[in-house]
Amino acid sequence: MKNQHRKRFTQALGAIGLATAVTLSVGVQPVIAENHTPDLAPMPEVKPGNAIMIELGRNFFFDNRLSGDWGVSCASCHDPKKGWGDGQALSTGYPSMEYFRNSPTVLNAKYRKRFLWDGRLDGSDASTLVRDMITETHTMNMDGRLMQERLKQVPEYDALWKKWRPNDDINGMRVFNVIGEFILSLVTTNAPFDKFAKGDSAAISSDAKAGYALFKGKANCVSCHNGPIGSDGNLHNTGVPENPDVLKNPLRTITMLRHYATSGMPNYMNARTDVGAYAITKKTRDIGKFQTAQLRDLKYTAPYMHNGMFNTLDEVVAFYNQGGGKGSELKPLNLSASEQKALVAFLLTLSGDPITVKDPGQPDMQIRTFGKN
Ligand code: HEC
Ligand code: HEC
Repeated sequence: MKNQHRKRFTQALGAIGLATAVTLSVGVQPVIAENHTPDLAPMPEVKPGNAIMIELGRNFFFDNRLSGDWGVSCASCHDPKKGWGDGQALSTGYPSMEYFRNSPTVLNAKYRKRFLWDGRLDGSDASTLVRDMITETHTMNMDGRLMQERLKQVPEYDALWKKWRPNDDINGMRVFNVIGEFILSLVTTNAPFDKFAKGDSAAISSDAKAGYALFKGKANCVSCHNGPIGSDGNLHNTGVPENPDVLKNPLRTITMLRHYATSGMPNYMNARTDVGAYAITKKTRDIGKFQTAQLRDLKYTAPYMHNGMFNTLDEVVAFYNQGGGKGSELKPLNLSASEQKALVAFLLTLSGDPITVKDPGQPDMQIRTFGKN
């Protein structure tokens, strides 16, 4: 048993070392041309995940013992009361770090082709994303082994874990898996658009219907925002202006430069803007590209964009109406004021019921004698 544990842990630590290599391969996937007209789609029916894993994951999601300083949990930056983000333009990050991008919602992670604003992680691998959130210096700055030892000393967690894996103690790698299972269970439910798309024509207002027509027609949002969550999963440049706070706050600038250095970006010391996917792919055509944001639950997730530069959907639509910002691949749309309003009314129909999950609190630790190790 002891050896098996050690082996698994070595694998886990090995995987941590490989994170950068794994990460880099994602950004260079070719853009797959679609030969049918894209459209939005209702949320698929979800098969419920493994209930005990989800229950374990929910407990860990809210537990700040998973961070190095015992002060930050996933929920600090992905707060259910703030649309599972943090409601700020830029994430505060781990204490003493300060991040240079916005903390996005974790809702609908299940349907992401890529994770993170610059798309640097593969959307089919939630465990790797969770591992990065826990071990990265700018989020939870935690050592995987220390996390495992802390969690093992919580009798309630041990008991719950044994319901799932009767012969195992809590294991670091599997902690990433259960938190992954938990976040994949969080999906938009009961959105008016979904009822409308399934045939209930009264589910959205006539304004919203006009907005949908613009979305697919004159405004052509659908070319990038399609599928069930409204994202093609590809990288695009919309020219969102820089958030001046990144350069005003040296801690944020340093976190950004550190990210570039870790990704091996050439001449990173002189970069003063968020280059997006370029830091990962090193292809100049990717400068300023970010992955298409999802359009689900926007009602709860302001401020918007990778750096929170827009506080309202009216601002976002006005930005698109003028053809986006510097270097963008967009064209001005010439939408009237009422057309812009209709578009916003439509966007709001993609939000579902608020998804609230009870914070389970943090059961006490108790150092005990373990039978097997
Ligand atoms: C200190 C703040 C912070 C903490 C703590 C944190 N996150 Fe994040 N999270 C972020 C930020 C910021 C990003 C976006 C980073 C980027 O794109 O460069 C992010 C991105 C994500 C995403 C990607 C969403 C998407 O659509 O691409 C998921 C999922 C996620 N976090 C889940 C978690 C989980 C699970 C935990 C706990 C294990 C966690 N986060 C802890 C700040 C945090
Ligand atoms: C060329 C592709 C493309 C087109 C066309 C496009 N978008 Fe986007 N959209 C993106 C990308 C990429 C982002 C993320 C940009 C960033 O964070 O810097 C985004 C972000 C957004 C966001 C922010 C979501 C969030 O959670 O932060 C909203 C809202 C949005 N788009 C709405 C629209 C609307 C409405 C239209 C049509 C008027 C539209 N988009 C057209 C690619 C596109």
